[in-house]
Amino acid sequence: MGQNDEIKKLMEAQDLMLPPPGQEPQRQHYFIKKCREIIRAKSDKMGRPLTACSVCMGCQMNARDSEKLIGILEQAGYQMTEDENADFVIYNTCTVRDNANQKVYGRLGVLNGMKKKNPHMRIALCGCMMQEESVIQKIKKSYRFVDLIFGTHNIFKFPELLYRMLESDGRVIDIWQSTDQIVEDLPIVRKYPFKSGVNVMFGCNNFCSYCIVPYVRGRERSRRPKDILREIVQLAADGVVEVMLLGQNVNSYGKNLEESVSFAELLREVEKIDGLERIRFMTSHPKDLSDELIQVMKESQKICRHLHLPLQSGSTRILQAMNRRYTKEQYLELAWKIRREIPDIAITTDIIVGFPGETLEDVEETIDVVRQVKFENAFTFLYSKRTGTPAAAMENQTPEAVAKEGFDKLLKVVQDTARERVALLQGQTLPALAEEVNSQDVSLLTGRLSNNTIVHFPGDASMIGKIMDVRLEACHGFYYVGKAVQV
Ligand code: SAH
Ligand code: SF4
Ligand code: F3S
Repeated sequence: MGQNDEIKKLMEAQDLMLPPPGQEPQRQHYFIKKCREIIRAKSDKMGRPLTACSVCMGCQMNARDSEKLIGILEQAGYQMTEDENADFVIYNTCTVRDNANQKVYGRLGVLNGMKKKNPHMRIALCGCMMQEESVIQKIKKSYRFVDLIFGTHNIFKFPELLYRMLESDGRVIDIWQSTDQIVEDLPIVRKYPFKSGVNVMFGCNNFCSYCIVPYVRGRERSRRPKDILREIVQLAADGVVEVMLLGQNVNSYGKNLEESVSFAELLREVEKIDGLERIRFMTSHPKDLSDELIQVMKESQKICRHLHLPLQSGSTRILQAMNRRYTKEQYLELAWKIRREIPDIAITTDIIVGFPGETLEDVEETIDVVRQVKFENAFTFLYSKRTGTPAAAMENQTPEAVAKEGFDKLLKVVQDTARERVALLQGQTLPALAEEVNSQDVSLLTGRLSNNTIVHFPGDASMIGKIMDVRLEACHGFYYVGKAVQV
């Protein structure tokens, strides 16, 4: 029996004649059932199913949260659609950079137009951006057509809030400042049948000076190993071959648990799960990456040959102002140690250009690290000022033109070094997990190597979810074109 079947049984067991239970997750199971009654009645009246559309705008953690939202919406009786012109639309927002916020406001304008034509339409917003007071004020004032708003800490309460929204004609807003709760056992619909994200921890305690995440996601909380392992066993039984363990800083996993467990120890346990073939994780903060973790990766048959190790800057002075707690030299030493111990590993990174006080000489330091480490891939971002963070209050904000110049210079080196590094695989035959039919050419499948490199190769949909040996024939910068081979 799958995880959702078990949850469905728990839900059916709720007696709607009684008041809602005080305990979680039973309380939410009760409200899903309540929602279902209302939605069924509405749909009977309209003579068609009610549709819902969920849009995820953030990182992998948000994507996993969206799978929970969809699980709940489906159980409540909505028919999911990709079309935003639906009876219920929910945006799971991100606020890590300001352009994420601007995107939400832009799309809300479009939704408003749709809502005017479909009076049944209800609009909900949740996720990181909703944890900002100024955003809530703006939406209350200028986006009155939004019906439901909640944040990151009370996402588990979605069924109850959805019920309140369906019951009332008014607006429901519920934002919590923090939580120490982790509610397990709510329905989930996975985007991919063969791979899944798994939360190992929530929140962040690092307070990098540019970053808003600790303010909108709250303090670090680790899930108990037994809950994580139980979830992965269940996923493997459902046909999942690859899991991605998720946390803002997985290397500090377990620190707040009663029985202290390290991330490396957790990985050893995950490795033992039958049926599971690949383990990924993100993100690793360089300051906390232990030798034990490198050792576990080295010995593992299942942990993928990929480490996402955000550098942010190669200038020790800027790193210090960013509160990253490592120097350029410490980062380089760590990267070399990893490359030495696990030669076939890919290291990818995140870099910010334009942090307050950053000069073109600082960017040269970053470029120097990129030249030395030769990241297989690097995500480069222009610094975005986030209200409430220490960096936003710094007086020496970098002029946009300087940031842009540094950014363009860096990007060129990132592309050149990545191409050089990825090209080393040319001609090799390596296992790739077939993930989807290529959107541009349906005769091709898109697969992923253990080291996270993408390869496109001829195949059909029946191969999706399988790990197959693929010969890497032509390198196109960050990806390959190849051919599956019989071994
Ligand atoms: N926990 C992860 C990162 C989460 S945010 C880590 O520590 O690596 C993802 C990336 O967004 C960060 O690595 C950083 O490069 C970028 N980022 C965060 N805040 C930013 C800001 N204010 N401006 C530009 N980029 C930012
Ligand atoms: Fe943000 Fe730093 Fe936490 Fe990553 S580790 S989420 S960059 S504060
Ligand atoms: Fe964005 Fe929140 Fe993730 S701010 S990056 S969606 S944790």
